[in-house]
Amino acid sequence: MSRYAHGSSLFFFFFLFFISMVLCQLPQNQKNAMEKLSTVLNETNPNPCSWKGVTCTESNSSITHLSFSGLSLSGSDFLVDLCQIDTLQSLDLSNNHLNSIPDEFIRDCGEIIGFNMLNFSKNMFSGFLPALHGFVRLQFLDLSFNLLSGNIGFQLDGLVGLRSLNLSNNQFNGPVPTHLGKSLFLEELQLSVNGFQGRIPEELMNYRNLTLLDLSRNQISGSVTDRIGELSKLKTLLLSSNNLSGQVPESLSKIETLSRFGAYENGFTGNVPLGISRYLKYLDLSYNKLSGLMPSDLLSSPNLESVDLSYNLLEGPIPVNISQSLFRLRLGSNSLNNSLPFVADGMLLKLIYLELDNNSLSGEIPRELGNCQNLQLLNLAQNQLSGPLPKELGNLLRLQVMKLQSNQLTGEIPDQLFRLQNLLILNISRNSLSGSIPPAISGLLKLSILNLQDNKLNGTIPDSIGSLNLLLELQLGNNNLSGKIPMMPPKLQISLNLSRNDFDGHIPETLSRLSALEVLDLSNNRFSGEIPKFLNQMGSLTLLLLSNNQLSGTRPKFQNPWLIVDTDGNKDLITISTNSTPPPILPKKRHSSAVVVVVAVAGAALAVGVITVILLLVSKRVYRVNDGSQHSGEEFPLRQVISGHLITPSSIHRGNIDFNIAMEAIGNSANIMLKTRFCTYYKVDMASGTSYYVKKLNWSDKIFQLGSHDRFGQELEVLGKLRNSSIMIPLAYVLTADNAYLFYEYAQKGALFDFLHGSLRSDLDWTSRYSIAIGVAQGLAFLHGCTSDPVILFDLSAKSILLKSLKEPLIGDIELCKVIDPSKSTGSLSAIAGTVGYIPPEYAYTMRVTMPGNVYSFGVILLELLTGKPAVSEGRELAKWVVSNSMQHDNLDRILDSSISKRSLGARSQMLSILRVALSCVSVSPEARPKAKDVLSMLLNSR
Ligand SMILES: *[C@@H]1O[C@H](CO)[C@@H](O)[C@H](O)[C@H]1NC(C)=O
Ligand SMILES: *[C@@H]1O[C@H](CO)[C@@H](O)[C@H](O)[C@H]1NC(C)=O
Ligand SMILES: *[C@@H]1O[C@H](CO)[C@@H](O)[C@H](O)[C@H]1NC(C)=O
Ligand SMILES: *[C@@H]1O[C@H](CO)[C@@H](O)[C@H](O)[C@H]1NC(C)=O
Ligand SMILES: *[C@@H]1O[C@H](CO)[C@@H](O)[C@H](O)[C@H]1NC(C)=O
Repeated sequence: MSRYAHGSSLFFFFFLFFISMVLCQLPQNQKNAMEKLSTVLNETNPNPCSWKGVTCTESNSSITHLSFSGLSLSGSDFLVDLCQIDTLQSLDLSNNHLNSIPDEFIRDCGEIIGFNMLNFSKNMFSGFLPALHGFVRLQFLDLSFNLLSGNIGFQLDGLVGLRSLNLSNNQFNGPVPTHLGKSLFLEELQLSVNGFQGRIPEELMNYRNLTLLDLSRNQISGSVTDRIGELSKLKTLLLSSNNLSGQVPESLSKIETLSRFGAYENGFTGNVPLGISRYLKYLDLSYNKLSGLMPSDLLSSPNLESVDLSYNLLEGPIPVNISQSLFRLRLGSNSLNNSLPFVADGMLLKLIYLELDNNSLSGEIPRELGNCQNLQLLNLAQNQLSGPLPKELGNLLRLQVMKLQSNQLTGEIPDQLFRLQNLLILNISRNSLSGSIPPAISGLLKLSILNLQDNKLNGTIPDSIGSLNLLLELQLGNNNLSGKIPMMPPKLQISLNLSRNDFDGHIPETLSRLSALEVLDLSNNRFSGEIPKFLNQMGSLTLLLLSNNQLSGTRPKFQNPWLIVDTDGNKDLITISTNSTPPPILPKKRHSSAVVVVVAVAGAALAVGVITVILLLVSKRVYRVNDGSQHSGEEFPLRQVISGHLITPSSIHRGNIDFNIAMEAIGNSANIMLKTRFCTYYKVDMASGTSYYVKKLNWSDKIFQLGSHDRFGQELEVLGKLRNSSIMIPLAYVLTADNAYLFYEYAQKGALFDFLHGSLRSDLDWTSRYSIAIGVAQGLAFLHGCTSDPVILFDLSAKSILLKSLKEPLIGDIELCKVIDPSKSTGSLSAIAGTVGYIPPEYAYTMRVTMPGNVYSFGVILLELLTGKPAVSEGRELAKWVVSNSMQHDNLDRILDSSISKRSLGARSQMLSILRVALSCVSVSPEARPKAKDVLSMLLNSR
């Protein structure tokens, strides 16, 4: 009955619709097509010419343009109907969820004579690129941001009118395509972010009308032909992030129209060619192997706005003639010497970024630098600059980052510096600055990192320091500071380092307020008295260094299993061995355990140090203009905007997610569910009743604030397309001026860590543990293997695994490597530390995260599941403990979590065979570790 009623009303609706369609003047075939479309689009107005996205001729007698972008359309069937509209000129279906192009669409739409623009960007098309027959007038074809793969041969050659082709952000491979429309009309060719290989083909030089050529982020190799100068209309040439070698072609200097040339992250050698920048606005050749002197005209061309030659092997002085249009100059990490160029008053007023760090520049910092009033980033670190810190730097009122560390600066810190109210990072460590820290320091209202360590500062720390409300890191180590330690800034998180000074007396009670602090270093002072109890309650602390003081009394037992404590060198301190309650780790001979503690502490210190280094490197790196985007200097600085981006194709999530609600919820710390070393998770309840995780990247303020956000978005878009049930896939993200927030499905149960060792510690039975092991292995094998561009995890630990249920794990934080370390190469740049206890041993010297390194971390998680013990306890790493025990005892039983292994013989024997898998994962040699997919099959086989 109700079914009948429904059917009849539907019929009535179509009847009305049909009647009204008759009244409209569109030809019958177009009406038919649009009638079908009306249901897809949920349109009820009988006149299609009035629909949003539909353009008709003036008389409404035919349809010319259709634009249905971002409507979450998924079924591709309606595409075929559209081909009945024989007057169609353009079709924009970008930003939907279409996943196939029907053959009939190609056949029928290819016959439409006037059809000139097809936009399928940002959909879910996968598989090979179909041959596009017909479409003889097609001028614009955009298939970017899909999942298309395979080679490109002749599929596009029939598009004789093609002027603009965008295939970027797919998974194509094979040689760079050359058959792109027989008549060679092509003006714009974008092939970036694919897997194209081989050389840049000579045939491409026949497309003389090219104005835009973007081949960046592929695997293209060999040298670039000098014939590239024949592309005399070229405006933009992007070759970055490939494996290109040889000389930068000199012929580029002949192209009068060329305004943007980016070729960073390649292996170019030889000199920078003379005249290369003659017509350019943007030049980026960073991360190559260019050597010799910079040509004297390199920076002088009046159009020049941005130059990046950092990370090369350039020598000699910085050229004196510098373009007045320049807003960005990056020459860091070369071997440049001589003094800094002179900046006359009223010159370089447009300069915003100046990075000359890690060279051999000498002489004083010129006072005239204070004239560059728009400067926001000044990095002169790691040179041989001497003399005082000029007080004129206090005129740089827009400055956000000042890095002058590792020079030979002397004298006192001028008070004028503390007028810089926009400063976020001040690093003047590793110089020979003297005098005291002036109370005026509290004028740096926005400061988040203050590093004064390794100087000759004396006197007391001023009380006013406590009012730096946004400070996250305070490094004062290795000075001559003394006296009372004032109330410290309340939000300190990354580190408070007072080591190697002359502090004495008791460890001050006020430190207990620093509830977010992770590293506290008070070592090498003259602190006395007992170790206060509150240190045991500082829940975020992971490293506590108290060594070489005069502390006395009994060393407390620290409960926090992930806290590493060093109290060596306090001769009156009594350490009671913990025999009363059995320790989680077997007591060893005193001698060898001390060695292990030192190693573990060194590991942790290394981790912390590395993070700092990374932040420096990363911040340098992301300040670059992404040369794939159309940036100009003016639109620059800090946007206070909140821009939300949905990346999930799921219309359910798209409907649920409300960015405003999320940003409000994040303001309330009661919504914090979980903190990992790098991220904070918030639970956000949307209006629909569905909950989501919103994850804040904790140090993103150091990464994104000054740079372009484009690459971040692109990386997330790619990750958002992954499909695997054991991975936390980003659904959406929000970028604010100083943070990045990622949205995920809510994982009911929280972190694996909490279940195994923490607050939620409960009976995780063997079936659950096994399912979790399999799930994580599946996810890891997928991340390492299934895409053309493997996803390597930056921080795989029991804290970064979340549980949907007790049997369904989700690997979190998959984006970190992509977001933090976008480069594929360049040594220590990819150095990233995970969590102590999960860091593979080779990391100490390779300093890079690798797939075998991930397998090691996974092995540690397996060991946690098998033993029930945390990755680090009492200064010992679980992996090392298990390895040494497994060698000493034949009876591997002793290693297993007996509360589980005793329950059934079946469980026990399976646990033993998985223990062997785990042991192979934590092999010291990375080569000896199995690949993730092999780990998975070994786990499945040990059923
Ligand atoms: C169609 O549009 C109407 C009115 O705008 C809305 O109430 C309804 O939910 C929509 N239906 C679908 C399937 O989108
Ligand atoms: C064409 O359709 C539009 C939108 O419905 C309408 O505003 C316009 O008046 C129509 N023009 C003619 C000539 O009918
Ligand atoms: C296709 O659509 C995307 C997203 O809407 C847009 O950015 C792009 O410029 C369009 N391409 C063309 C060729 O118009
Ligand atoms: C460049 O484009 C024009 C039309 O705009 C065309 O006549 C000419 O043949 C093209 N050049 C080449 C080399 O294809
Ligand atoms: C700090 O050092 C300076 C010399 O650099 C000296 O003149 C001054 O007296 C010292 N102040 C204190 C409090 O020791």
